[in-house]
Amino acid sequence: MTSNEIIRFPESLLLGVGSSAYQVEGAWDEEGKAPSIWDAFFHSGENEVLHEFIPLQNHDTISDDEEPIDLLTFFKGFHVFKSTTKLRSQVSEPSMYSMDDGGMIACDSYHKTEMDIQLLKDLGVQIYRFSLSWPRLLPDGDDQNPNQAGIEYYNNLLQKLLDNNIQPLITIYHWDLPQSLQKIGGWANSNIVRYFTNYCEFVFKTFGDKVKLWSTINEPRLIAEGYGGSSTAPALGENFSGIADYMVIHNLLLAHGYAYRLYNENFRETQQGQISLCLDTLWFFPADPNDEEHKKAADLAFQSFVGIFVQPLLTGEYPKIVVESIKATNKLENKNLTRIIQFTDQEKKILIGAYDFVAFNYYFSLYAKPNLTFKEEDNLKTKDLKVQLLGFKGDHKPEDTNAGFRNLVDWFDEVLNHPKIFVCENGFAEDEGVDKSLEKKRYHYDILREVDQALKRNINIIGYCVWSFMDSLEWASGYKSKFGIYGVDFNDPSRPRYKKENNFAFFQNLFKTKTLPPPEIE
Ligand code: NOJ
Repeated sequence: MTSNEIIRFPESLLLGVGSSAYQVEGAWDEEGKAPSIWDAFFHSGENEVLHEFIPLQNHDTISDDEEPIDLLTFFKGFHVFKSTTKLRSQVSEPSMYSMDDGGMIACDSYHKTEMDIQLLKDLGVQIYRFSLSWPRLLPDGDDQNPNQAGIEYYNNLLQKLLDNNIQPLITIYHWDLPQSLQKIGGWANSNIVRYFTNYCEFVFKTFGDKVKLWSTINEPRLIAEGYGGSSTAPALGENFSGIADYMVIHNLLLAHGYAYRLYNENFRETQQGQISLCLDTLWFFPADPNDEEHKKAADLAFQSFVGIFVQPLLTGEYPKIVVESIKATNKLENKNLTRIIQFTDQEKKILIGAYDFVAFNYYFSLYAKPNLTFKEEDNLKTKDLKVQLLGFKGDHKPEDTNAGFRNLVDWFDEVLNHPKIFVCENGFAEDEGVDKSLEKKRYHYDILREVDQALKRNINIIGYCVWSFMDSLEWASGYKSKFGIYGVDFNDPSRPRYKKENNFAFFQNLFKTKTLPPPEIE
């Protein structure tokens, strides 16, 4: 049933907006920044695997052996880049990439600190969640030669936020690994744990006096997907699906755990911050709620997506049901390789309890039923999952989106024994040229109502950030998927921002008054 009450949040609930470095900063090769795996994915010419630009004119005629095209000529008027890259025609959905700069300019936030601070002030937020770019701060990957310009950029941003009473919530890693580290295997190489801890130590030392809320790594599951698929960087493709992705999950968890212990041992006392790992979450409903097999499928899906990160932080072990499922696939496939390995006793000690609060992103939920139809050629990950997921194309009912959020916070509250919870991302995308502002406001109103109800059930939600501050690079989908409260004109190289008149007041009112009337009567 649609609710129409006015929601009033307690003053203590932190409300704000989020972004991430690669999605907004641009300045991809300026002032000492090294390329990240996303620069390689899109445009630096270092990644020959899958994704390249399609020029606006006549891309059908480009062949694999086409001469490299000078991007400077291609994007006339854009001011930041100098490299060339080779274009190919074999991109699965060319339209997805055309018109996009692949983050070379993005929202140009690197050059617009003053302006963005003013926009945050106008909006009235208490929290700004943003991420640090590892290759901007440590172009070599480690802290031997930090990049002074990068340090100044973030110091200035942080100082201005604090001067304006806006609390930073920093994501230390939001997907933009230095490409140099990818060359030695990236997150699939267990040495990455030492690199990440070295990066975190540098970050805590350099910025820790200004920051009280941290998340180490954003959406580890999506990071792992880049090692077993092709839609996120480093886009290694499916060859190591069900192999490299588990290695990556293992290393990400340990990297987080060691960073947490480092903070505990060397920084907590003086800096007094709180730190967590930020998960992407979904709830899985049985497609048929009365079918026991569907219920089992929903459980397996949830444990494979969410439990695989939560259980190790609770007991130092992966969920049994996930491990068993992988073993069963191995048996069926006659495969001897152990694909998911246990943590050692020492590692368990690092992992158990390595969070001060639960941080998660939530957008929608899915429906699950057993996958009885997978084919010989399906990748190992699909075979491990053994579940068919429905609802991906947005055909889930709004009431289930809300119920999914409710189930999720209740689950965290129960399983992790009443933790603090920060909803780091929640958002609704509008497509280019389509005004869905009323649906967007209703979406946020409904989830925020769930937040309110959860608080009334004594669930300890401490914060909520709307994704996102402004329209930005939606990774492989380019700029057409628009989550922003502010809009950005991506056809203009100077990237002007504008208020989206149909939703600005709704969010401003939320942030400034901590009350929320139903959108239809706002
Ligand atoms: C999660 C990611 O953290 C963020 O980078 C992305 O833009 C949003 N989801 C929307 O897809």
